Amino acid sequence: MSKIRLGILGGGGDSLIGVLHRVACNMYDRYEILGGVFNPIYEENINFAKQIGVNTNRVYVDFDTFVEEEIKKTKEERIEVVSVLTPNFLHFPMAKKLLENGFHVICEKPLTTSYKEALELEELQKKYNAIFAVTYTYTGYPMVRHMKHMISRGEIGEIQKVDVQYYQGWINPVIHDPELRKKVWRLDPKKAGISSCIGDIGTHAFQMTEYLTGMEVKSILSDLNMLYDNNTLDLDGTVLIRFSDTVKGVIRASQIATGEENGLTVAVYGKKGAFKWEQENPNILYHITDDQPKRIIKPGHSYVSDVSADGTKLPGGHPEGIFDAMGNIYKGVAKALSGETAFDGEYPTMNDGVRGMLFIEKVIESHKNGNLWLSLDK
Ligand SMILES: NC(=O)c1ccc[n+]([C@@H]2O[C@H](COP(=O)([O-])OP(=O)(O)OC[C@H]3O[C@@H](n4cnc5c(N)ncnc54)[C@H](O)[C@@H]3O)[C@@H](O)[C@H]2O)c1
Repeated sequence: MSKIRLGILGGGGDSLIGVLHRVACNMYDRYEILGGVFNPIYEENINFAKQIGVNTNRVYVDFDTFVEEEIKKTKEERIEVVSVLTPNFLHFPMAKKLLENGFHVICEKPLTTSYKEALELEELQKKYNAIFAVTYTYTGYPMVRHMKHMISRGEIGEIQKVDVQYYQGWINPVIHDPELRKKVWRLDPKKAGISSCIGDIGTHAFQMTEYLTGMEVKSILSDLNMLYDNNTLDLDGTVLIRFSDTVKGVIRASQIATGEENGLTVAVYGKKGAFKWEQENPNILYHITDDQPKRIIKPGHSYVSDVSADGTKLPGGHPEGIFDAMGNIYKGVAKALSGETAFDGEYPTMNDGVRGMLFIEKVIESHKNGNLWLSLDK
């Protein structure tokens, strides 16, 4: 089977997320990185391409040239799918033009910088019948997939409460230094969009609640913290969520939780039991009930669901991490591109991206208007 021809935008040597995508796309030997624009500075772009062994003939001076030159190639030669790994404000113009020119897209979250743009991309995706993934990485973990499967099988009974916390502390030293603050694009509305904390990590937590429960959040109420009057974007937020009158929950996200690293923790409580999982210890899924000792479920065993086993490459005891999680998402996209049967939720879709943008906008609106309950109906 020939490899899927992949292009990459952003994700250069200076980036955080590029290496994750490069390792992930190679994990199941399904893709070949054929070109891209890794960096807006051409020289750095070319040097980086040489460093990672990508043929510099297809490393372009900018995004417009990438599209212009790639569409001149034959269908068999041309890059099929493009990963968009740039700062947020470039996701929309890049994804839009890619869809309009017949490319499939793997886009980082948040999908765009506004809900309106997200809806426009959704229309284009339908029009061009494209595969479009939004990389909510954490849904790729084998234990998260197993948890979703067990919840859908009724293992914990009817859901009563969902609690997802995503705490980081990295902005703490930045936000108190006015000079340092200016250097961080996540705090610049022109590059990040209308939100920092909720857009960057709250959106992961939100997507996780819907992914695990298979339900849509119907309404939200938020309370945010910007710390300083001259800082416009949120650094911390608490969001009450309602799936229905009886299924409710809370999303807590922070970039100023001093000392925290990448503390995404998830708990779903049902009538009969609960599942708990922590991103920093991803190979352990806890199953708790009122009347039995706590159970530990781990990947790579015969007792896990097929969807979880499919995303586990080695026998039990070999830790699966964030690279593996992203690798599983790329695997799901590869199946979709090749017309193979995939498991439900094998890669996060356009719908996840669009709902993520709706969530971000409503959270900001709720806070600005005095912490109002707002509907998430589309
Ligand atoms: N899924 C996840 O868990 C996760 C984690 C981190 C970041 N992200 C997302 O990934 C995106 C990138 O984040 P990051 O932390 O890697 O940012 P970063 O600033 O570390 O890297 C951005 C990269 O894009 C390149 N770039 C900028 N403008 C460009 C242009 N016009 N053309 C080509 N390349 C360009 C930069 O040179 C750099 O290599 C963001 O949208 C962020 O939200 C997702």
